[in-house]
Amino acid sequence: MSAVCITGATSGIGKAAAARFIKEGWQVVGTGRREERLHALKRNLGDRFLPLPLDVRDNKAVVSAFASLPPAFTPLDALINCAGLALGREPAWEASLEDWDTMVATNINGLYYCTHAVLGEMVARGKGHIINVGSISGNYAYPGGNIYGATKAFVKMFSKNLRCDLHGTGVRVTNIEPGMLNSEFSTVRFKGDAEKAAALYREVDPLAPDDVADILYYVATVPPHVNISCVEVMPTCQSNGGTRIAKRR
Ligand SMILES: NC(=O)c1ccc[n+]([C@@H]2O[C@H](COP(=O)([O-])OP(=O)(O)OC[C@H]3O[C@@H](n4cnc5c(N)ncnc54)[C@H](OP(=O)(O)O)[C@@H]3O)[C@@H](O)[C@H]2O)c1
Repeated sequence: MSAVCITGATSGIGKAAAARFIKEGWQVVGTGRREERLHALKRNLGDRFLPLPLDVRDNKAVVSAFASLPPAFTPLDALINCAGLALGREPAWEASLEDWDTMVATNINGLYYCTHAVLGEMVARGKGHIINVGSISGNYAYPGGNIYGATKAFVKMFSKNLRCDLHGTGVRVTNIEPGMLNSEFSTVRFKGDAEKAAALYREVDPLAPDDVADILYYVATVPPHVNISCVEVMPTCQSNGGTRIAKRR
């Protein structure tokens, strides 16, 4: 039986992916800080779902959580690094340094802590898959994207560098780069202002978590000789508009 660990399984993409992999018969370890949500997921998804409460920013907790996985959930065939967040959309000079630190600690440190915790075993076994959830924000700049976009550019380059290090090991690496997607992401970004978050999605058709869950399942289940390195996916209503020209002040 195949096993996957999905970080950030309490909401959005990670939650949809947990349901998708369970539906396909996988063993799924789901992490997140909101323990009650993980237990609710277990009630819905059944015994093939293992709740693993975890703050990915805490490396000691990450190491001991992965070391404590029961035999039914090991070895891991894949790690999906989905936990992440954006905080604020202010221009850089007005942004909160605390928000920047939180995004770096979660989207960068947390992602490489989890990766490091599982990688040695995957290499030793000659099998495994690190699937990162990056963002188009790592590819294209936008006003207010400042540190969030920079953390996702890190995810992109880290994924590419992992591929180099893992050359010949049989371990695969994929970076999924979604565009606008309707989840709790914007409510978190706007610090609980649900109205401001909802306004973003009004009169547009954004991606849904299930759209990305389908892609995650697909990239994880192509034959072992196939490594999908990168998937950029946007809703049809979104495109990249290029450069801007500011008039003299
Ligand atoms: N929504 C978009 O437009 C969009 C677009 C491109 C990429 N993405 C990326 O997709 C990923 C998932 O986002 P989403 O849209 O599904 O947002 P979401 O609904 O807000 O889910 C975010 C998940 O990350 C977890 N998380 C956040 N901080 C954590 C921490 N310190 N430790 C452990 N888990 C943590 C949350 O769990 P807890 O709060 O329970 O800890 C939650 O499960 C993120 O990496 C995001 O950057 C999103």
